[in-house]
Amino acid sequence: MNKIASICCTLLFSASMAVPLLAHASVEADMKAMSKALRSASTATDAATMQSSLAALKEATLKAKSDVPDGMKDQAADSPARKTYTEGLDSVLQQVDAAKALIDAGKLDEAKAAIKAINDTKKSYHQKLGV
Ligand code: HEM
Repeated sequence: MNKIASICCTLLFSASMAVPLLAHASVEADMKAMSKALRSASTATDAATMQSSLAALKEATLKAKSDVPDGMKDQAADSPARKTYTEGLDSVLQQVDAAKALIDAGKLDEAKAAIKAINDTKKSYHQKLGV
């Protein structure tokens, strides 16, 4: 019985240690998903693949918006850095919607340029936030 209690304790302890570690990976994982989706949208050659990659980018960006980067966890939601973070992700979301609308309108070349511009938003906000 003691052995079982000790195993239970070990399992509970391990789980409690794992939770913060998993939370830690959050924005990092969202950004990796954004990166993968943007790469796929940038290299797509047909409208359907562009649309599905942009849908994945939108989903990952919304997820990132609902998470707080580790470096900002101790800052208030209305702190300059947290506001800049939300503002940048909103810009990406707007650019994704604009690119999707261009694809719907059959303007694939313009959509490709719009997708390329998302990279500039990324660079600009990474620079602003020092990441
Ligand atoms: C589609 C556009 C973007 C892509 C593809 C992208 C991609 C990435 C990648 C690959 C990382 C490194 C993740 C790692 O540690 O392995 C990263 C980190 C980060 N990015 Fe982005 N990013 C984008 C846009 C943005 C925007 C607009 C913001 C802020 C407004 C932002 C904020 C951050 C932050 C705060 C981190 C550090 C995350 C952490 O480790 O806690 N990113 N991003």
